[in-house]
Amino acid sequence: MSPGGRAVLVTGASRGIGAAVARAFAASGERVGLHYGSRREAAMQVLATLPGAGHIVAGAELTDPEAIRSMVDEVAGALGGIDVLVNNAGVFEPHAAAETTYEEWQQAWQHTLGVNLIGAANVTWCVLRHMGAGGRIVNVSSRGAFRGEPNHPAYGASKAGLIAFGQSLARALGERRIAVTAVAPGFVETDMAAEELTGESGRRRRGESPLGRVATPEEVAAAVHYLASPEAELASGAVLDVNGASYLRL
Ligand SMILES: NC(=O)c1ccc[n+]([C@@H]2O[C@H](COP(=O)([O-])OP(=O)(O)OC[C@H]3O[C@@H](n4cnc5c(N)ncnc54)[C@H](OP(=O)(O)O)[C@@H]3O)[C@@H](O)[C@H]2O)c1
Repeated sequence: MSPGGRAVLVTGASRGIGAAVARAFAASGERVGLHYGSRREAAMQVLATLPGAGHIVAGAELTDPEAIRSMVDEVAGALGGIDVLVNNAGVFEPHAAAETTYEEWQQAWQHTLGVNLIGAANVTWCVLRHMGAGGRIVNVSSRGAFRGEPNHPAYGASKAGLIAFGQSLARALGERRIAVTAVAPGFVETDMAAEELTGESGRRRRGESPLGRVATPEEVAAAVHYLASPEAELASGAVLDVNGASYLRL
């Protein structure tokens, strides 16, 4: 472990779930590298609210492999290695098959897989050069990996792919004492879900859970924080549902 609390890289920490994850780790005395895509100012504002010291902000467009390499090296250099990686950044863009042109379909698949799956795979490759025994990787997947995403099929595929990727890594990295897990939230109150959670659609979405609500970013962050803990080593390979029983799988 790096001196002065673990070093944690959270992708997509400029808002939403990533910002809540950054706050959860900082609150437990860890030092956080807050990655952002385009919203540097927002990431700086999250940084300003974090307790503790030694946190940094670093940007990278996740469809750009060289930008990812520079970002990861910058964070690892500043934090003295990386003990925990949270692959959280993602996009959720509608592209129902019946409603898109072939060009729009190509674009949606390329961009969604490029950010959500290949971007996460590239961040992981770069981080593994800086991660030692006791390391943790937590991937933020989705209920959609299992339930299907009728209007966002590339999103569903990217999140199922992220789980398969993480489980392959869990098998590969166990001998290095690195544990790899995933969370699979249902809808969460963030910018990404704002449209779906407004008006009649929001009422229906909340009604999918017997609890009558969706998750807060802090509830997802708490699950990520647990999976990244030293106590969770034997959870390697697991997927933790955070969907309020809105979708149950065996
Ligand atoms: N909200 C939900 O209902 C829900 C449900 C299940 C799973 N999830 C998953 O949870 C994760 C976080 O979602 P959220 O709701 O917090 O989303 P959000 O509020 O839309 O935030 C998305 C984050 O990802 C970053 N990002 C997006 N595209 C990027 C790109 N091309 N390159 C680099 N960074 C990029 C954004 O950075 P900038 O803003 O700086 O550009 C931002 O920090 C995602 O993986 C999402 O799929 C969300």
